[in-house]
Amino acid sequence: MEGREQWGTRAGFILAAVGSAVGLGNIWRFPYVAYDNGGGAFFIPYLFALLTAGIPLLIMEFTMGHKYRGSAPLSYARMNKKSEWIGWWQVAIAFVISTYYAVIIAWAMAYTYFAVGQKWGTETKAFLFGDYLNLADAPGQIGSLVPSVFIPLVLVWVVTLGVLFKGVKKGIEVANRIFIPTLVVMFLIIVVRALTLEGAALGLETFFKPNWSEIMSPGVWVAAYGQIFFSLSIAFAIMITYSSYLPKKADINNNAFIAGFSNSSVELLAGFGIFAALGFMATQSGVGVEEVAAGGIGLAFVVFPQILNTFPGFNGLFGVLFFGSLVFAGLSSLISIVETFVAGVQEKFKVSRRKAVVIGGGLSALISILFATQGGLYFLDVADYFINTFGIALAGLVSVITISWFVKKLKPFQEHANATSDLRTGLWWRVCLGVVTPIVLGYMFVMNLIQNIKVNYGDGDFSTSFILYSGWAVAIAALVLGFVFASLKWGEKDLEVPAAYSEDKGVKAK
Ligand code: PFF
Repeated sequence: MEGREQWGTRAGFILAAVGSAVGLGNIWRFPYVAYDNGGGAFFIPYLFALLTAGIPLLIMEFTMGHKYRGSAPLSYARMNKKSEWIGWWQVAIAFVISTYYAVIIAWAMAYTYFAVGQKWGTETKAFLFGDYLNLADAPGQIGSLVPSVFIPLVLVWVVTLGVLFKGVKKGIEVANRIFIPTLVVMFLIIVVRALTLEGAALGLETFFKPNWSEIMSPGVWVAAYGQIFFSLSIAFAIMITYSSYLPKKADINNNAFIAGFSNSSVELLAGFGIFAALGFMATQSGVGVEEVAAGGIGLAFVVFPQILNTFPGFNGLFGVLFFGSLVFAGLSSLISIVETFVAGVQEKFKVSRRKAVVIGGGLSALISILFATQGGLYFLDVADYFINTFGIALAGLVSVITISWFVKKLKPFQEHANATSDLRTGLWWRVCLGVVTPIVLGYMFVMNLIQNIKVNYGDGDFSTSFILYSGWAVAIAALVLGFVFASLKWGEKDLEVPAAYSEDKGVKAK
């Protein structure tokens, strides 16, 4: 694989990795997860998870991509042919996520437009489910296509595939150089505004108030690990793919720390902004912050519009900034996730990048139309839960166990990473990956499995058959596809790791 594409600069790579990590998960997931799991006390398990799993795994994935110079499937295959399926499994998970993540970005785009003049009116919940999504009566019904979702969805795909068409340096790197600084500026403006609203202090107090008894509960630790995994885009095939475009000289360890801490800083910033705004809303309506606290779709598309309705001024502008931030945060993550299967297809089937974008990206775009129908939200909800619970976390578990216990690569990986880095990791790194992470993820998997066998996901909202085909089947299909793709043959020389890096000329590595 001569002439592999490369990042133009080190900052370009870091921005792209941060662009992938900083996504919807930072803005609408983190603040609520933290609040719901001990508030201020959550920072202990969170920091622990970041240092024992998040950053060590980032280092591991960066090392794999850098050492084997391939997409996730090729990197796993080069490490050990028998482990290639893990790479494809991760790619399949990424594929599933891309199909619905694109739709949420499309909603955010529509809401950026609605924000001008607060077109959502006063009943924001009824607006979201009724006027906007035109939600079907029951899960499983598809209904017709919803044009106000479909049109922005087309735009999301045009931008994403357009960027990927242009390649790593001219496409992904340039896009992130524009999206990330824009996102940071936009988001900072809203956070500062939120912090100066009446009632902000009350919101922050509720957010940070430590509930120490919570940190003894295993559920809180599971939540912390879950948040770190999702938030850092680990076990998604993404970070392996992105680091495969690194030049030979690359400070892997440092890059992982920078990316990990940047991502957490954005999360923390979002926590401040969201809870300050919630404090404002609670004060305005004379209720406790607990009553308005929310996460996910409810926070972004129901509660936030309400907050914006009562803003003391420039409501439209702040609305555009908030939903625009979601769009930029989402797009840079979507680009990274689609790149995983574009790169996988490109290498295994020996097609050009453009063809791979059309085939891989095109297929994901087609499937995403399902989520732009009246029944889309139900499918999205269940698929999202199952692919996260029995996809990402499980693939993460299988990959660390394989690498540390079966193919025993931790030591060589550590040597590889240390050789490229100023900052050297020690024994702790191997202990975290070989012992701590497998125990926590293993426990997480068993608990989740028992829980989901006992009670159906969704508080009785969904029938068992719906859960079976749009949840379990999707998670299992990703695994099966992993094996199918791995069974296809490689070309004779493909699995040889390229001895020398092609063109390092003109690349500023440090
Ligand atoms: N780290 C991302 C987030 O926090 O939203 C996770 C992610 C989701 C990455 C979806 C990429 C993606 F397409």
